[in-house]
Amino acid sequence: MKRKIAVLPGDGIGREVTRGAVEILEAVGQQFGHDFEFHFGEIGGSAIDRTGSPLPDETVEMCKSSDAVLLGAVGGPKWDQQPLHLRPERGLLKIRKDLHLYANLRPISYYSSLSESSPLKKEIIEGVDLLIVRELTGGLYFGKPSERTTLDGKEAVVDTLFYQKSEIKRIIELAFKLASTRRNKVTSVDKANVLESSRMWRETAEEVAKNYPEVELEHMLVDNAAMQLIRNPRQFDVMVTENMFGDILSDEASVLTGSLGMLPSASVSVDGCNLYEPIHGSAPDIAGKNVANPMGMILSAASMLRLSFGLEKEADAVEKAVQKVLDAGLRTGDLANSPIRGVSTSQMIAEIKAALLDQEAIL
Ligand code: NAD
Ligand code: IPM
Ligand code: MN
Repeated sequence: MKRKIAVLPGDGIGREVTRGAVEILEAVGQQFGHDFEFHFGEIGGSAIDRTGSPLPDETVEMCKSSDAVLLGAVGGPKWDQQPLHLRPERGLLKIRKDLHLYANLRPISYYSSLSESSPLKKEIIEGVDLLIVRELTGGLYFGKPSERTTLDGKEAVVDTLFYQKSEIKRIIELAFKLASTRRNKVTSVDKANVLESSRMWRETAEEVAKNYPEVELEHMLVDNAAMQLIRNPRQFDVMVTENMFGDILSDEASVLTGSLGMLPSASVSVDGCNLYEPIHGSAPDIAGKNVANPMGMILSAASMLRLSFGLEKEADAVEKAVQKVLDAGLRTGDLANSPIRGVSTSQMIAEIKAALLDQEAIL
């Protein structure tokens, strides 16, 4: 069976790590006898440079006719002065909306061989296994109005946090479903002491919880959640939260693994064509230097194999290959706490590929 994968490398290190994911998927295809067909498209700054738009229609069409999408990262200082609607990030928000990617799953797991890479103590991070379920197509990122305005003739500005109740319900339902396959606990994160939207979020969580008697529901205010994540992260199983809260908490939580560069994500679509991307950005400070950590991107590709294609054994093989190079002591600069001591992006990709092809060692 042919599987069509849309590949959108984007900008900065997005391009460097995406090359790695494609190489690993090619190796999986070769190893396990699968026919992956890659179709490359533009998004973000590179799309602006070529077409004037951060998300050309042809990219959207290509994604819609694919079985899954892989995305690197977008953005960079070159485009920072553009008006908001012409920034690279707008392309990312639009593709999420156009493909109806309502949920972004961001798993955070402890790697024993990386305990020295995190600035947090081993006793705190040992055994962490949590999943942030971030609402992705609503909330503060998409509410209207969002504009400069005036009040009594003076400069003012407005952003809007808007949700339909049905949008809140479907993301919380997904969180409960996922928790029931894990450790049966949902922490719903909100700011219900201040925001009306959070009060509806909390009520909806209570309603959904009635259908999952085996799953424990707790509510936590977002400021406390930010603190609890680094004080006692093992208390969490599934956290579900509004778009921007989820964005912020997941960058924070990545520190539990050792680096932002380790974290994969899967964006789940209402219509079946999911998108897979690392949670990090285009990292202009290290772009073009061949030092970025490709693991978050490669683990996103593993997640694609499992969730979009049902290729469980293949996904496991990629994850084990990553684990194996970490256990062997290989580190990119972010994990080695020094860019000079780390191995390069291309070396890391080659090592993961070698570990993958060395079947006996991992299967
Ligand atoms: P960033 O995630 O790009 O980088 C934050 C820090 O983490 C930097 O020091 C960077 O070097 C480091 N880092 C990130 N990924 C790494 C990796 N794989 N290996 C090693 N180190 C890594 O966030 P930022 O600097 O705030 O944003 C830069 C640009 O990226 C902005 O234009 C922003 O809008 C964009 N961005 C895009 C996405 C996305 O496309 N999904 C996500 C976040 C930020
Ligand atoms: C992410 C990024 C994006 C977001 C930006 C680039 C729009 O930070 O994917 O986490 O905030 O969703
Ligand atoms: Mn982010």
